[in-house]
Amino acid sequence: MRINRRGFILSASALAVTAGRGIAASPMPELVAAPSRAQLAPDTYPDTAVWSYNGGIPGPEIRLPQGAELTRRLVNNLPEETSIHWHGIRIDNAMDGVPGLTQDAVAPGGSFDYAFRLPDAGTYWYHTHNRSWEQMARGLAGPLIVEEADGPDVDADITLAVSDWRLTREAAMSEDFGMMHDLSHAGRIGNLLTVNGAFEFRQGVKRGDRVRLRLINMATARILSLELPGFDGWIVALDGMPLETPQRAERLTLAPAQRVDVIADVTADEGSEANLVQFARDGGFALAAFPVAAGGAARGTAPKPLPPNPVPQITLAEARNTRLTMEGGAMGGMSAARYKGERLSTRDLVQQGQVWALNGTAGLDEEPFFTLDRGEAIRIPMVNDTAFPHGIHLHGHHFREVTAEGLGPWRDTILLDRGETREIVLQGDNPGDWLLHCHMLGHQAAGMKTWFRVL
Ligand code: C2O
Ligand code: CU
Repeated sequence: MRINRRGFILSASALAVTAGRGIAASPMPELVAAPSRAQLAPDTYPDTAVWSYNGGIPGPEIRLPQGAELTRRLVNNLPEETSIHWHGIRIDNAMDGVPGLTQDAVAPGGSFDYAFRLPDAGTYWYHTHNRSWEQMARGLAGPLIVEEADGPDVDADITLAVSDWRLTREAAMSEDFGMMHDLSHAGRIGNLLTVNGAFEFRQGVKRGDRVRLRLINMATARILSLELPGFDGWIVALDGMPLETPQRAERLTLAPAQRVDVIADVTADEGSEANLVQFARDGGFALAAFPVAAGGAARGTAPKPLPPNPVPQITLAEARNTRLTMEGGAMGGMSAARYKGERLSTRDLVQQGQVWALNGTAGLDEEPFFTLDRGEAIRIPMVNDTAFPHGIHLHGHHFREVTAEGLGPWRDTILLDRGETREIVLQGDNPGDWLLHCHMLGHQAAGMKTWFRVL
């Protein structure tokens, strides 16, 4: 494979970002959401005005043992309301961070205390859940790692959080958030990718080392297609949840919000580099470099599966069935949809900023998409009747795909290509009102969301 240094092509102009406010002291560890600056583009460019947690891009990595309680006070020093969602955590509903469904949005100058237990080990993340298409595109996201009591035998544990930025020619934040063209097409695709906030993330490894790579797609819209030349790897977990049997890691496709844990041996020669590569038609480009030194000791055996998480036993035979049809978007041919209780033509929907629908409804309806008793299972064939791919995420639960070969791995976000149908099965074991939405955040903003209730 040919690996290029990236061409860096920026366009358009930008506006200024509002300054922050003071910080109050508190007993809980804080996540302070505030405007700050970060060097996202190469060093020859100026830094970029971002919104961040505690001044870092990405936000600080939170690392706790499985079963521990996570406590954080969100302090809002942004010029607008915000909240935090703890993506992939099978969490108490009141801590899920969804304004209007599980809490009130936190006003500028205000705060909110999050405290909840972490039932599952694995790779998770946290991000804003208010006006997320803009707030996340400005930087409000960070990794959340829950460690196994009995973790795998590795020499290094490396989080690789990939973010996608749309910057101007001067490396300023491009302020064209929520443009109808982006919302109705593939979302806000950027022009600069960073790993852990760096244009060229670098970390030294030794030949023969076994490393755990925790890949997180923090992009608001971009689907990643990753390869790991110089490593010989196995996928051991998807969206935090261990695979029963590790799979060889070839090309890794990550929809926005998806995670992949890879355990990989460094096979590149001493003095060369292993890489994390974003695959592209012309061969791909390196997102991260791992310069290889001598001295590692090769294991010579495939990694064992990670210890399983306490997921429910799914009883497929008794599962109800309800279909989810995705409609709308550019070239989607949707003629009308319900919005806020009224049936609107596509033209009127566009006036409201709505262009996508789930089962004929744009945005959140009064009634849930479905209600489950505790312990009840439901099969949901998802039909992507649009011209774009969508990464559908369910809050509060993981689910499994129903395939011809049986039940697939546990996931919290599933990617459906255009025209594709995939079926999932979900067991409602976490009471509350939960969102189901596209994690292409412009799609979510423009109608592609609904909610379900677990009693
Ligand atoms: Cu990662 Cu509703 O979110
Ligand atoms: Cu979508």
